[in-house]
Amino acid sequence: MPALLVSKSPPLSGEVTIHGAKNSVLPILAATLLCRTPCVLHNCPDILDVTHALAILRSLGCASERRGASVYIDPRGCAGRSVPPELAASMRASSLFLGALLAGCGEASLSLPGGCPIGARPVDYHLLAFRALGAEVAQTDDTISCRAQKLTGANITLPGPSVGATENAMLAATGADGVTVIENAACEPEIADLAGFLIACGAKITGAGTSHISVEGGHPLTGATYTILPDRIETATFLCACAACGGELTLRRTDARLAEPVLGSLAESGCRISCTHDTIQICRNGPLTACRPVVSRPYPGFPTDAMPVLLAAQLRVQGQTAFTETIFENRFGYVRELGKLGVQLRQDGSTVRLNGTPRLHAAQLFAEDLRGGAALLLAAMQAEGESTIFGVKHIKRGYDTLETALQSAGARLKTVEIPKKM
Ligand code: EPZ
Repeated sequence: MPALLVSKSPPLSGEVTIHGAKNSVLPILAATLLCRTPCVLHNCPDILDVTHALAILRSLGCASERRGASVYIDPRGCAGRSVPPELAASMRASSLFLGALLAGCGEASLSLPGGCPIGARPVDYHLLAFRALGAEVAQTDDTISCRAQKLTGANITLPGPSVGATENAMLAATGADGVTVIENAACEPEIADLAGFLIACGAKITGAGTSHISVEGGHPLTGATYTILPDRIETATFLCACAACGGELTLRRTDARLAEPVLGSLAESGCRISCTHDTIQICRNGPLTACRPVVSRPYPGFPTDAMPVLLAAQLRVQGQTAFTETIFENRFGYVRELGKLGVQLRQDGSTVRLNGTPRLHAAQLFAEDLRGGAALLLAAMQAEGESTIFGVKHIKRGYDTLETALQSAGARLKTVEIPKKM
């Protein structure tokens, strides 16, 4: 099985290019089902989740082709109504095909979506939105089926600012007659990017990126050419890699405005940061001091997906700090793995308290989810000796060229094939 061998990295140097946002391109790929003509998506990351989303589109009868960082989708052959179980189980974002299929053809079924095991991750808010629009929804232990003769605009109040439920409600509402208002919507930038794509296709949407979104449905959508926004979590990952190992790194094709909470914590720790409209330069010479305690919040609060990599960058700080997770109930699986490196961490419920530990030692580590896997990688880059990280498939789900980009910046890591024990 593949594994990452990681040795202690010297200070990083050079520059890396940030790719399109995983959590933006996935709902937008689902949204292409609503278009009557082909779409072109630029700045599309080449990651496992996108590969699986393209496979879902093809399984439904669409045509797709990748040319570098651009993906061409022709949805005109779409005739399917059901997402194949193995693809549905490959990621959380498969759930977004429910809203798109419901809007496009009035019928959708999906075995329960997969995704990182960071919590129960129910879809009850998604189904509430579909029912509000007039769909009949049935859920068994492992399948969700939706059907609607006609979708009708409605007022939907989400019980919580769920990213996926907001996106699914928006997708379904574009196929509903009349106006839909989504209250308590999530405000993440990826939701505004999905709306930007839908509007480019002819949808009438206002308020995306705020907690109050209005969709005037029933307008036929034509394919558009659209560029995906930069990945703010990939940005956070590279920023934290440089904070962790020291040195100087320039991130290109990113957007500092999307990474403000992470930039604030790194500046508190003593990193020097300078930004232009599409680059961020980070420099860390000398010891880091602990940043103020961090609490994850829905956007524009500190992003839950960036907390693991920031925690990894704090492992050797002078002082102590704390990280509190408020979004998912099982996000700290990677913290137990970090303890193998000699890190002083204590988990009290949803808070992890960290005492900076000057020297870490190598260990065998097991990644269980995407962002936790990235945190283990950043931690191993600080440890004396050679660490082995298993579960690299989790990392590959969400990062395009992370390994080669870190290698080019001077990090010492490589993927190897570890023979299975007989
Ligand atoms: C999206 O997941 C992202 N994934 C996650 O990124 C991200 O961590 C999360 O939003 C929060 O920002 C994608 O966009 C593909 P939620 P999502 O619905 O939509 C509860 C990564 O590493 N909830 O906003 O699944 C839920 O249990 C991934 O890139 C319900 O109770 O997140 C959670 O506690 C990890 N019922 C909270 O809301 C529902 O129907 C927020 O979840 C839906 C959600």
